[in-house]
Amino acid sequence: MNRKLGDRAISREAVGMRVGQGGSGPGPHTPDGSAVELYERAPVTGEDQLINAAIDPGSSILELGCGTGRITRPLLALGHQIVAVDESPEMTARVHETETICSTIGDLRLDRRFDVVLMMSYLINVADDEERLRLLRTCAHHVRPGGSVLLQQQMPGMIHAPAVREKEGRRFEVSDVEHLPGNRQAATLTHTVDGRSWSQRILTQNLTDEQLTAQLAEAGLTLTDYLTPDQTWVRARLS
Ligand SMILES: C[S@@+](CC[C@H](N)C(=O)[O-])C[C@H]1O[C@@H](n2cnc3c(N)ncnc32)[C@H](O)[C@@H]1O
Repeated sequence: MNRKLGDRAISREAVGMRVGQGGSGPGPHTPDGSAVELYERAPVTGEDQLINAAIDPGSSILELGCGTGRITRPLLALGHQIVAVDESPEMTARVHETETICSTIGDLRLDRRFDVVLMMSYLINVADDEERLRLLRTCAHHVRPGGSVLLQQQMPGMIHAPAVREKEGRRFEVSDVEHLPGNRQAATLTHTVDGRSWSQRILTQNLTDEQLTAQLAEAGLTLTDYLTPDQTWVRARLS
């Protein structure tokens, strides 16, 4: 039986995944619907340089939601040390260059602290306040005093349809956008690379400055600065 999100059916493969999210297309998918083979083919688009410019040389980094190591590898090459975490064993199995941990972010409790905790890819926009707080508490638990928690967040208007982007043989389409109460939106993201397509149904929540600040505070963190003028990249530190 298919699960439903709004009036969109999610594929059979999505059953057992996180509520409201699912993916389809070749190869394995993570519980949030990310396609392993798609992320293996995804290019780096400057995120490594942006992060590198915001942190000290040779930082210890805990990367939460590392996927196939798309950003892990360039940050290692820049001289940082990384522990890479993902809940999907199919994802962590693709990261050979450093220590990996297969765990949900909310449950992770290591006996170590890091100069930097990195949680990118809009994981902060999970549309569930309790889950978001669990993610932030994990960030707070693992960052050293004076260290940085770096978050990448979605901004209002980012998810809109129709939107099609084509670049270097890759096609990206946003479709079936539903605007839901509470600054939430559902959408289908379809990537086509080398004639193969992957679709992911996402459910996200945009956070106002007040919501983000309040949830950071609840987790013991304080927003200190934005790394980018569009405020998608946020730095927080222990309060
Ligand atoms: C969209 S992919 C991005 C991967 C990588 N950050 C990148 O930019 O290439 C998101 C990754 O986060 C992982 N993820 C999402 N929610 C998670 C959670 N609560 N705990 C652990 N991993 C999670 C997924 O399994 C997936 O590999």
